[in-house]
Amino acid sequence: MDVIQAIKERRSINFFEIGRELSDDKIRELLEIANLSPSSFNLQPWKVIVVKDPERKKVLRHCAFDQPKAEEASAVMILIADTKGVEENRGRVLDSWQELGYMKPEMRETYVGMMQSLYGTEDSLRRKVFAVKNTSLFAMNIMLAAKDLGLETHPMDGFDEDCIKKEFNIPEDKIIPMLIAVGYLRSGITLLPRAFRRSIGEFMRFE
Ligand SMILES: Cc1cc2nc3c(=O)[nH]c(=O)nc-3n(C[C@H](O)[C@H](O)[C@H](O)COP(=O)(O)O)c2cc1C
Repeated sequence: MDVIQAIKERRSINFFEIGRELSDDKIRELLEIANLSPSSFNLQPWKVIVVKDPERKKVLRHCAFDQPKAEEASAVMILIADTKGVEENRGRVLDSWQELGYMKPEMRETYVGMMQSLYGTEDSLRRKVFAVKNTSLFAMNIMLAAKDLGLETHPMDGFDEDCIKKEFNIPEDKIIPMLIAVGYLRSGITLLPRAFRRSIGEFMRFE
């Protein structure tokens, strides 16, 4: 499947085939692909908890305002945007740039300074925006790659973030931009046609 076809065919699925197994290998394959997503300074500030256990999905459904898909999908991914991603990953990013010849060693401190000034302190709004925007790009690639792997998805931000943090042991400082339900379309379900999209003339202009 090419990218344009995946974009055109991706839909948010409400009815997943209940009880259908999605293997850990397939989930790893999906995440390996999405892990190639671009990120600010290549800092990759995302983490994922993949919930497959039926009892744990029940808990997730409770936190997700009882949305059935949070329990019925084969797996539900809790996407975590980590504001500490800058400090956690910058060393390895810069090592790799140095090794591969993207950057001269003497530029290292300059890059660290640029990251600090662009993405602020750990608890700043700028840092939260950094973490969420990059994790959201990762999320989009999960949804598109899933199509190519024969899977369907549904992103969700209808949930109580505190409930998920408490139930899934996620530290207070993390942000959960969305959940993504992943699985297979329930047989016999016909999707309604895709709903309203604005015309691009409404939101774009050339300069
Ligand atoms: C970040 C995000 C959060 C969403 N949260 C929910 C949700 O909690 N429950 C839900 O039923 N749909 C949710 N949706 C799905 C949207 O309603 C859906 O993407 C939109 O109606 C367009 O439909 P389509 O994805 O099939 O093109 C969410 C979508 C996004 C991108």
